[in-house]
Amino acid sequence: MLRAEQTLSSGAVNRPRFARRATLRRSLRLLGSFKYAQTDPAVFYGGVASDTADLVGDFYRDLTGRSLNGTIVLDVGGGPGYFADEFGKVGARYLPVEPDPSEMHAAGLRVAGAVRGSGMALPFRDDAVDVCISSNVAEHVPRPWVMADEMLRVTKPGGLMVFSYTVWLGPFGGHETGPWHYLGGEYAARRYRRKQGREPKNRFGKSLFAVKASDGLRWARETPEDVEILSVFPRYHPRWAWWLVRVPGLRELLVSNLVVVATKKPGAAQADSTVRGSAFEMAAAPESA
Ligand SMILES: C[S@@+](CC[C@H](N)C(=O)[O-])C[C@H]1O[C@@H](n2cnc3c(N)ncnc32)[C@H](O)[C@@H]1O
Repeated sequence: MLRAEQTLSSGAVNRPRFARRATLRRSLRLLGSFKYAQTDPAVFYGGVASDTADLVGDFYRDLTGRSLNGTIVLDVGGGPGYFADEFGKVGARYLPVEPDPSEMHAAGLRVAGAVRGSGMALPFRDDAVDVCISSNVAEHVPRPWVMADEMLRVTKPGGLMVFSYTVWLGPFGGHETGPWHYLGGEYAARRYRRKQGREPKNRFGKSLFAVKASDGLRWARETPEDVEILSVFPRYHPRWAWWLVRVPGLRELLVSNLVVVATKKPGAAQADSTVRGSAFEMAAAPESA
């Protein structure tokens, strides 16, 4: 059984605090806001932002017993910083990292401390932040699992990492080119261009990639032993539908957005560097003797 699947079937972590919020009413509310994603991003992002702050706050409290007040939250691919207000309200220091200047300035928001950089090479030292999140970014990144590893690297031991992405074969996988992505991403992109007279913003192979639910589960299974997978669940679904993540095939079609929640075990980084340090010393000893 995958380590991530063990997480799903284990009672303790299978009932995170956040599960109580995952009602059908919430799912319908979020679904209703999706239609504004292109036309009125402020409406769409407003709802998603408060929901995301709740999600992160609940998992952080499960993990540490504390609220997000006073924490540093790094948002990888944070766009213009739509989530800034919601994390600010709970007292967190919110830092978006974004490679695309036009995305950064898209909504006219000014987020102090916004950083330009790529999730695949985060411009931060190891163990720098309490919380590292990424929301709907992995499917826009050519090497999403390098980004996930980077996010773990910069998260403090005992801190929280939340990685959430749109699953390619789900209903929103093709973004504005859907549902034609079911006939292939390249076909869907060309069809969009033919019909709309312009390239889609999310161009398959350039800024949109086919990331599967099983890819996230594999990454979770292959994380080092000092990483604990706390939960894996479909982001927008009510709690009673979370079992979908466990069913191969079906999860690709119906999960829509997969969330992987992880932590680095406290003390692990120090223990690990001690081991690596002594291994290095042993290897170096014969040469220096
Ligand atoms: C769909 S938006 C998501 C914005 C926000 N995180 C949210 O959930 O609403 C995807 C964002 O990922 C950013 N992105 C693309 N490539 C990236 C990379 N290599 N590293 C970090 N972010 C990236 C895009 O510029 C864009 O702002």
